[in-house]
Amino acid sequence: MIYIKEISAQDTFPIRLEVLRKNIPLPHEFNGDLDSDTIHFGAFKNDELIAVSSFMKATNPNFEGSQYQLRGMATLTKYQGSGAGKLMLQQAFVILRKKNIAVLWCNARILALNFYQKQGFKTFGKKFEISYVGEHYVMFKNLN
Ligand SMILES: CC(C)(COP(=O)(O)OP(=O)(O)OC[C@H]1O[C@@H](n2cnc3c(N)ncnc32)[C@H](O)[C@@H]1OP(=O)(O)O)[C@@H](O)C(=O)NCCC(=O)NCCS
Repeated sequence: MIYIKEISAQDTFPIRLEVLRKNIPLPHEFNGDLDSDTIHFGAFKNDELIAVSSFMKATNPNFEGSQYQLRGMATLTKYQGSGAGKLMLQQAFVILRKKNIAVLWCNARILALNFYQKQGFKTFGKKFEISYVGEHYVMFKNLN
């Protein structure tokens, strides 16, 4: 069974590096990682950390109201498709709603578009390129 727990920024780094930064010369530490209102989630299977995600207060001028940004969403390859990502997002929706956050948004890799759409995110605007990582869409979900 997979369960979700709050973890530290430090705990997210090995999976960020492995899944999101392999051969990609971009930082694996993000501005805001250590902010007091940032939330880091880990998904565990048999006490092994298999997926991570981070939720940070960040405003995108395209949206209104209080906002969080989802960053560093990653599941170890061998556990992808086993529900860890979905569980972390569902847990985040509950917690962010309790904080009266109106919008959760992210810069989504094209390959992950379908994953986010299944959790109720919509694309906003045009595709854009992030160096070394490829094409992205801004995606958002209204929480209220
Ligand atoms: C995208 C990612 C975070 C999804 O996490 P995950 O733990 O594999 O996702 P889940 O197992 O919770 O999947 C939930 C649903 O989305 C689907 N899904 C997951 N990844 C998908 C993908 N890349 N493309 C299409 N559908 C996907 C699953 O099939 C599942 O569908 P179901 O509910 O109908 O069964 C993970 O695959 C990953 O780490 N990919 C590489 C890194 C990456 O692209 N991160 C996102 C950066 S924006």
